Amino acid sequence: MLNTLGLGAFETTSFQNYDFVIIFSGEMSTNSEIMTNIAVKYTQMSVHKEIKKVTTHVLIEMKQRGEKISMLTAYDYSLATIVDDAGIDVILVGDSASNVMAGHETTLPITLDQMIYHASSVVRGVNRALVVVDLPFGSYQGNSKVALDSAIRIMKESGAHAIKMEGGAEILESVKRILTAGVPVMGHLGLTPQSIYKFGTYTVRATEDAEAEKLIADSKLLEEAGCFAIVLEKIPADLARRVAENLTIPVIGIGAGNGVDGQVLVLHDMLGITKQFNPRFLRRYLNLYDSIHGAVRQYIGDVKSVDFPNEKEQY
Ligand code: KIV
Repeated sequence: MLNTLGLGAFETTSFQNYDFVIIFSGEMSTNSEIMTNIAVKYTQMSVHKEIKKVTTHVLIEMKQRGEKISMLTAYDYSLATIVDDAGIDVILVGDSASNVMAGHETTLPITLDQMIYHASSVVRGVNRALVVVDLPFGSYQGNSKVALDSAIRIMKESGAHAIKMEGGAEILESVKRILTAGVPVMGHLGLTPQSIYKFGTYTVRATEDAEAEKLIADSKLLEEAGCFAIVLEKIPADLARRVAENLTIPVIGIGAGNGVDGQVLVLHDMLGITKQFNPRFLRRYLNLYDSIHGAVRQYIGDVKSVDFPNEKEQY
C-alpha cells in the first residue's frame, strides 16, 4: 500500500512517511476538485510506477559490488513471464531451444528465423530482465557482414536487448563490427556447443594448459573489444575463477564453479522437464516431468471415466 500526500503550493510538512508527494498550485475552488486531482495523479503514478530494468550497465555494477547475477534460459512467452516475475536478472534465449524445444540432438539445426520467433515471444513476457539472444550456428561464422546482418535482424525483429556469440579470437572481427553498430555482445567460451563436431564430446574443456591459456587470452580479447559479459561453460572452477578475477566485465558460469560473477542454467533442466541430461553441475529444483506426467495420467482417467467435466464444469 502506497502513502500519498497532496500538498498545496505554500504548505510545508515532513515528506519522509510518504511514497508520493503531489505538489499542486494554481486555482482550485473546492476540496472535491483538489481530491479528484490527487486521485487522477495518484492513479497515473501507480500505473507508471517504475520497474528498475536490468541493463548491461547494471550487470557491471553488480559485479563491482559483489552481487551475483542470476540467469536462466526461456524460449516462450508463458515461462518467460514467470521467470521475469520471479526476479531473474538475465533471460537467455539460448540456441539450446534446438534441443529442448525442437528435440534436435545438437544446437546446430536451429535457424535465425526460429531464434527470432522464440526471442520475440520471450520479449513480450518480460518487464525487468535483460533479454540476450544466441546468434545461431551459421548466422555469424561466415564473415563480419553476415554476423552484423544477423545481429541487426535479431534486435529489430525480436526487440531483445543483446546477443551472445560463441568463440574468441576467431570471431573477434565480427564481435567488433556488431558492437560498432551499438548492439551489446555477450561472449561464450569453454564448451561451445556449436563446435561439438570439432570437440567430439561434451566433456569438460580447458583442462590442458594450452587450451586454458587460449581461453584466458580470448576472454581478455572479448573484454577489450567491448563485450559486456562472458559465459564460461564447463571448465575447471579454478580457471573460471582466474578469468573472473582478471576481468572487469561479469563472467557467468555454467558448470564453471562458484568463483564467477553469476550462474546460468537451462530452464527445462533445472525444472526437471528434461530427464536424460544429468551433468554434475545441474541442480534440479523441481521434477516437473513426473508432475506433468501424473497430471496428464489423471486427466486421461477422468475423461475416460466421465468424471470430467462434472456439473459445475459445464454450461
Ligand atoms: O543455449 C544455451 O542455453 C546456452 C547456455 C547453456 C549458456 O548457451
